[in-house]
Amino acid sequence: MRTKVKILVVFVVAAFVLTACSMMAGMMGMGDLMTSMENMDAVMSMNMQQRKQHMMKKQQAMLDYGKTLFHDSKLGRNGQNCNSCHPGGATTGGEAQVPMTRMKMPIPTLIGASARFPKFKVPNDRVITLAQMDNNCIKMFMGGEALPLKSRESVALAMYVTSLSNENEVAVGSGK
Ligand code: HEC
Repeated sequence: MRTKVKILVVFVVAAFVLTACSMMAGMMGMGDLMTSMENMDAVMSMNMQQRKQHMMKKQQAMLDYGKTLFHDSKLGRNGQNCNSCHPGGATTGGEAQVPMTRMKMPIPTLIGASARFPKFKVPNDRVITLAQMDNNCIKMFMGGEALPLKSRESVALAMYVTSLSNENEVAVGSGK
């Protein structure tokens, strides 16, 4: 009889802890949404024209920031930046040394690249997004640290790289 009560108590406590944890996790996830909802409040109080201009300005600012980062060697530690290998978003036509191996990889153009993502990459052993691919280059070819995917830096960089594929044919997952 007593053992049954004990088991019941343990079960109730476990259920309570689990519920509390999942609620906390949910609330933490809501954090991002709340911030964007606050931004949304400001946007909602604008008229159509102001709203459109506001959105365009925000978008352009992110794009400009992404372009700046594309030319910024501080993302890495070997003095290289994205533009060193992908000048103007294209390719030098050369190859890049893969660290700790004797392997070299041809440098692709980024024009049209975002139309090929998400895509399976062998080194990652998973299907990755364009922002994760940017991180691959930062780590492999610039000796840098991956940008947190939610950071302004990662988003802006991915946005700029995406813009290089405007008007390109979509070929998601393509190996090219
Ligand atoms: C030292 C040369 C080098 C630098 C610097 C470099 N990359 Fe790359 N990049 C490469 C090579 C080589 C590949 C092909 C790698 C692969 O296929 O796994 C590549 C592939 C890519 C791709 C995928 C293209 C496709 O079609 O699959 C993207 C996107 C990319 N780079 C973005 C960037 C960004 C953004 C930066 C700066 C943060 C950067 N690269 C810096 C050499 C470089």
